[in-house]
Amino acid sequence: MQAMLTTPLCQLLGIRHPLLLAPMAGVAGGALAAAVSGAGGLGLIGGGYGDPEWLGAELARAGDARIGVGFITWRLDGRMALLDMALEHGVAAVLLSFGEVAPYADRVHAAGALLIAQVQSLAQARAALDAGADVIVAQGGEAGGHAGQRATLPLVPAVVDIAGSCPVVAAGGIGDGRGLAAALVLGAQGAMLGSRFYASAESLAGAAARARVLDAGGDDTVRSPVFDLLRGWEWPAGYALRTLANQATARHAADPGAFEAALAAERARFERAQAAGDIEGAPVIVGEAADLLHDAPPAAELVERVVAEAVAALAAPHVRRA
Ligand SMILES: Cc1cc2nc3c(=O)[nH]c(=O)nc-3n(C[C@H](O)[C@H](O)[C@H](O)COP(=O)(O)O)c2cc1C
Repeated sequence: MQAMLTTPLCQLLGIRHPLLLAPMAGVAGGALAAAVSGAGGLGLIGGGYGDPEWLGAELARAGDARIGVGFITWRLDGRMALLDMALEHGVAAVLLSFGEVAPYADRVHAAGALLIAQVQSLAQARAALDAGADVIVAQGGEAGGHAGQRATLPLVPAVVDIAGSCPVVAAGGIGDGRGLAAALVLGAQGAMLGSRFYASAESLAGAAARARVLDAGGDDTVRSPVFDLLRGWEWPAGYALRTLANQATARHAADPGAFEAALAAERARFERAQAAGDIEGAPVIVGEAADLLHDAPPAAELVERVVAEAVAALAAPHVRRA
């Protein structure tokens, strides 16, 4: 029998399981989002830095699956057409992360979609609540990809405490059902997983990167400015990108000044690495949950597995209740 866990979030989002696929730029495409939604979670396409052609193709790939799209908010500024493209597709939800959500809230709601705000601090949670977010994702710095300074364990209950009736979802470092169970115990109504789905059959990550992730662990991850520097993305202060450590992160860490002085050459080297799928020069973007990734099955199987594990974990067979 299929394991079941339900929270009020499920009713709000129209899902069977309180599990969301994180909108991973370049990794969570239409097929992965549709697979997670088809299995009863909510799949979010990673709209990322906003390539309209890529987004159009991935929305088409999702077909008529009930999915959402996530955007890097500061990159949406001045690019409203991207948001409109997602809304015209009829997405169920728009997730905004890393920037002010208020300028977009009315447009999302007017289209009949739900607004999910991923936040990295209590101050951002308050601002998102004031802007009318329907769901808050509290993201800890254990996460793969960009994140702030806070850790998931204390951030989630603190956000729950100020969120009132707005459901909170935990993200960052959740790689299996134990993490989902922990999130629920902290007062969250669900969990959003990125790294776990990086290693899934429908992930758009390259073959070498996916294979490397299965061998790596959380100890192998670092937070480094190097890839934003190489890509030329002007990230606002306060965020850092967590990836697996590789030759590029090591070269930068050894002498940041020398690295920046040779930036043109480093960029050329980086572009060659990207084109060749060389994971020593290009980023493999996963978080501390890398410890928990040992296989890359179809995403639907992962959804079922994580829920079943959470049900078992919530029974906490190793805890004796006096
Ligand atoms: C490969 C990758 C790409 C990501 N890209 C984005 C992104 O474009 N926008 C975003 O809001 N979050 C992005 N994230 C962060 C996720 O939204 C989420 O917070 C994170 O994956 C949760 O932590 P976990 O990786 O430990 O599951 C990315 C994460 C990963 C692993």
